[in-house]
Amino acid sequence: MKNYGEEIVHMGNPFTLTFGKKPSEYIIRRVDIEEIEKTFLEDPARSQSYLIRGVRGSGKTVLMTAIAKEISENPDWICVDLNSSQNLIDDLSYRLLDACERTTGIIDRGMDISVAGFGIGFGSKSDRDSVSRCEEILNMLKKKKKKLLVTIDEVCNDQSMKQLASQFQIWIRKDYQIFLLMTGLYENIYAIQNDPQLTFLLRSPKITLGPLGLSQIARQYERALNVSGDIAMQLAKETKGYAFAFQALGMIYYDNEKSLSIEKQLDIMDEYLDEYVYQKIWSGLSEQDRNVVMQLSDSKAVKVKDICEVTGMTSATFSKYRERLLNKGIITASQHGYIELVLPRFRKICEYYNM
Ligand SMILES: Nc1ncnc2c1ncn2[C@@H]1O[C@H](COP(=O)(O)OP(=O)(O)OP(=O)(O)O)[C@@H](O)[C@H]1O
Ligand SMILES: [Mg+2]
Repeated sequence: MKNYGEEIVHMGNPFTLTFGKKPSEYIIRRVDIEEIEKTFLEDPARSQSYLIRGVRGSGKTVLMTAIAKEISENPDWICVDLNSSQNLIDDLSYRLLDACERTTGIIDRGMDISVAGFGIGFGSKSDRDSVSRCEEILNMLKKKKKKLLVTIDEVCNDQSMKQLASQFQIWIRKDYQIFLLMTGLYENIYAIQNDPQLTFLLRSPKITLGPLGLSQIARQYERALNVSGDIAMQLAKETKGYAFAFQALGMIYYDNEKSLSIEKQLDIMDEYLDEYVYQKIWSGLSEQDRNVVMQLSDSKAVKVKDICEVTGMTSATFSKYRERLLNKGIITASQHGYIELVLPRFRKICEYYNM
């Protein structure tokens, strides 16, 4: 153990367990960023909405924030981030005005903004007023040839999202340059499936976040932890590229260096995985999903035929669960007829939940 006080270790450690914030040890997802930016930046845009899916802790919020930051550096764009726990259209009208006021040249000098309904008593206005306030600003943006990116972290199937979704479609029909970038957990997005007001979400292009590259992780560990290439790669493999595990193991190794064996450090990682993410992931799985997970292995791909045999599922039934676990980002099907766990040490940790 390094001979540092608690606080110093914590302060000096470049790794973090904090969700939703760009970490200092950051691995850029260049391919995903380019794919999403290309969709929005092409003229005409290929789509005006995009959905980032992925299991908890895979880095959805960090990716969304990175894209918003890049796009906002372009002077032709205005970006606003909505908080999905509020009324989204009200929230949009506030944040839109705020963003425009902060950007010079959008709101013409002398324009009486209260005309747009931003006067006193703003908070008590009805939804309809929020819509017209937004449209007023969208018109200004159109005149100035500015595009608007709206980000929403963790969309869900509630009334406020439905309102925003239908309004968004009207705005697209009216030819406003408004773009929507969202993140969501599969289970929340799946719930949207049968809702006609939200089908546009399902038609939006989407990516499911995969693991970070092992060689990038190893390079980062080598530098940040000051270890040999071999050890760095050994640690990288233990994370399986899972973003949260990359931070967790980096943090543990940084604090404990050589005083603990790698096995002991992995035991500590298990505690973090359990507490911060796996319990939540497990509680979102159905009984059959869990049965499938319990047939999988942390170290190798498993034959689909064997899983069907043990669980007594027909291959048609199995393919339903397979599809869902794939979409949730819990398994991959890298070779035909096999599936494999994406998350590191997931099977081992789930063993406790299954007892
Ligand atoms: N590109 C990255 N490079 C390094 N670390 C990352 C990267 N993306 C995410 N992380 C780390 O992974 C963890 C989870 O990231 P993030 O909060 O973005 O996940 P999430 O998918 O939004 O999770 P949730 O579904 O719970 O909101 C954080 O500790 C973050 O620091
Ligand atoms: Mg998140």
